[in-house]
Amino acid sequence: MHHLEAFASNPRFRVVGLCDIDVARLDAAAQNFPGAYTSTDAAQMLANTWPDVFAFCTLPHIRLPLIRVGVEAGVKLIAYEKPVATSTNEALAMYELLREAGIKSVVSYQHRYGEHYQKVKEIIASGAIGRVHTVYGHATGWMLHMMPHLIEYMRWYNGEADAEWVVGQADGTEKFADVHPSPDYIAAAIQFENGVRGVVECGAGAPDVPEVDYWWRKCRVGAQGTEGFAEVLTGGGWRAVTRHSNGVISGPGCMDYAHDMPPYIQDIATWLDDPARVHPCNGERALKGFEIMMAACRSVVQRGKVSLPLGPGEPELDALKRVLPA
Ligand SMILES: NC(=O)c1ccc[n+]([C@@H]2O[C@H](COP(=O)([O-])OP(=O)(O)OC[C@H]3O[C@@H](n4cnc5c(N)ncnc54)[C@H](O)[C@@H]3O)[C@@H](O)[C@H]2O)c1
Repeated sequence: MHHLEAFASNPRFRVVGLCDIDVARLDAAAQNFPGAYTSTDAAQMLANTWPDVFAFCTLPHIRLPLIRVGVEAGVKLIAYEKPVATSTNEALAMYELLREAGIKSVVSYQHRYGEHYQKVKEIIASGAIGRVHTVYGHATGWMLHMMPHLIEYMRWYNGEADAEWVVGQADGTEKFADVHPSPDYIAAAIQFENGVRGVVECGAGAPDVPEVDYWWRKCRVGAQGTEGFAEVLTGGGWRAVTRHSNGVISGPGCMDYAHDMPPYIQDIATWLDDPARVHPCNGERALKGFEIMMAACRSVVQRGKVSLPLGPGEPELDALKRVLPA
């Protein structure tokens, strides 16, 4: 509904079709969009509506089949939710389909539009914390939920540098039963090509963010440089020490769909209108973050440093489940 409402309220878009396999949910949504074609089958909906954009927001286990449906329908852009996929094999297959068909893709990292997320980017990019040597992110939410977000914004704060290698360690199997199947805890060190070190932790045992009360907003993402630091709390604003500041400076901000969705959707229109104005949440960028997460998983299983880019291999979640102690 967040996605639908943002498309519907943007004058560059019209909602032409709705789909959910859950009829009650579909009917409830359709009441707000009279005139939109409805179906419990995505391929049927696309065949009857010929949209420019196909946006789907299913749970993580459904990605490749819906990418295929969108590619076969010949849409111009597919927008979908994090995580990119549940294995490297699946992600590689998805991007092969998208690239061959020349179809744009976008992944919902809309937190970046928050004023506090933007402020931290502005401070780091201005050089006010000196030369960045470390980027970091942690969340008490579990891996498939939160780690894609953390890595995406760490990469953003590090100028989108590619990663060279990743070392990871993990613990616990309880969360494999969840709809976002994950180890209970995972930590990774990332070596970026520009020499910057990334440190990321996710799940039970990751540091709390006591300033924030709601679980998925308990994320801290930032950068340390030679002359200071700047960091964002998803539900608790931003703070920094810079070469110009006299002590800590800070400001407000809290992840809010009403604030963050409209610019995310507008950037889809902008990219479709002008291919040079690539969406900041474009799928190729998201894939690089996903690879870092999967490299951390492979490192837990294989031990040692895992070099990027990744090729096909044993599905990472299955492999993790096999080796981790309960
Ligand atoms: N970007 C963010 O900040 C953010 C926030 C929340 C959730 N998410 C992500 O969004 C995704 C969905 O999460 P959710 O909490 O909305 O899940 P959900 O279970 O509430 O909604 C998923 C919907 O997809 C429907 N569905 C399942 N298979 C389908 C199919 N083949 N065709 C059509 N519809 C189908 C389900 O019936 C359900 O209504 C997850 O990947 C989650 O990680 C992202």
